[in-house]
Amino acid sequence: MTLQELTHHLQENSKDLSQEFKRLFHGRGGLYEGWRHLTIDSIDTILSVALYFEMEPKKEEELFAMLTHFLSTSRHDTLVVQRRYIQGSPSEVLVGEIPENLYVLENDMKIKLNLLSNKNSGYFPDMKNGREFVRQNAKDKHVLNLFSYTCAFSLAAKLGGAVSVVNVDMSKGALSSGKANHTLNKIDMRGVSFLPYNILKSFSGLKKKGPYDMIIIDPPSFQRGSFEATKDYQKIVQKLPQLASEECIILACLNSPELESSFVIDLFKELAPSFTFSHRLENVAEFASADEERSLKNLVFVPKR
Ligand SMILES: C[S@@+](CC[C@H](N)C(=O)[O-])C[C@H]1O[C@@H](n2cnc3c(N)ncnc32)[C@H](O)[C@@H]1O
Repeated sequence: MTLQELTHHLQENSKDLSQEFKRLFHGRGGLYEGWRHLTIDSIDTILSVALYFEMEPKKEEELFAMLTHFLSTSRHDTLVVQRRYIQGSPSEVLVGEIPENLYVLENDMKIKLNLLSNKNSGYFPDMKNGREFVRQNAKDKHVLNLFSYTCAFSLAAKLGGAVSVVNVDMSKGALSSGKANHTLNKIDMRGVSFLPYNILKSFSGLKKKGPYDMIIIDPPSFQRGSFEATKDYQKIVQKLPQLASEECIILACLNSPELESSFVIDLFKELAPSFTFSHRLENVAEFASADEERSLKNLVFVPKR
């Protein structure tokens, strides 16, 4: 894909822009030759660019010149570039400025966003369809949100009418952003709890608060010393029957390019046979990938009848 074709792609994808988050270009998916290192997001009036590999200086200059020009034709007034190939993923504001209390809007839900700190912006945009699924299925349910991070699933569940949500994450910082996200959305926090537990060591505490009618499992694929999908996912699956109510729906997520859906489906067959695989949620269209099994897997399991 040439720079000119990329410009055209951006213009075409920008026709329906609003305040809502939209990925305008997803080179990471491997569908555009020569651009695997680039993603471009629209966050209200901010154009946010991430570079995953270092570019030749001349090519980078041409890209930024094109984007700066694009800004003059689009709704954006700020251009931010994050260099994910450098340790700490530093960001740089090339044009404009970033507001202090920045948030993204997704289906009218607000989620705090930190574009300048490091890799963890507080928001995973590719999980949009997962949150939509939770919002549509959470009515009157008791929800367990494992690996809750900044509690975006909890917002979706409460907005969908959940009775209670138990958010669990070992990062106190993530949970405190999670609380702020509830306040930002004016969500009544009665029935919402935030537990700073190591999930692999705290099943009895979680069991006490159950049983749950919906369980979300969205772990990292690999976080040194905290969670490794290849050996730890099974520890969660085998505990599910003790945590689940009779009608419990489970959303089991896996974001590892090396592990396929069958990895999780087989764990359920072996360790939680009272559940059956129902379906895989479609990924957000803008995140299309050359190999869907290498991208995010959102798998729904229901009780066997
Ligand atoms: C992929 S993020 C979760 C994304 C989140 N579900 C969302 O919707 O935005 C992974 C989270 O798992 C947490 N984590 C990793 N290992 C953990 C463990 N053993 N116990 C509790 N939390 C853990 C991290 O702190 C991090 O916030």
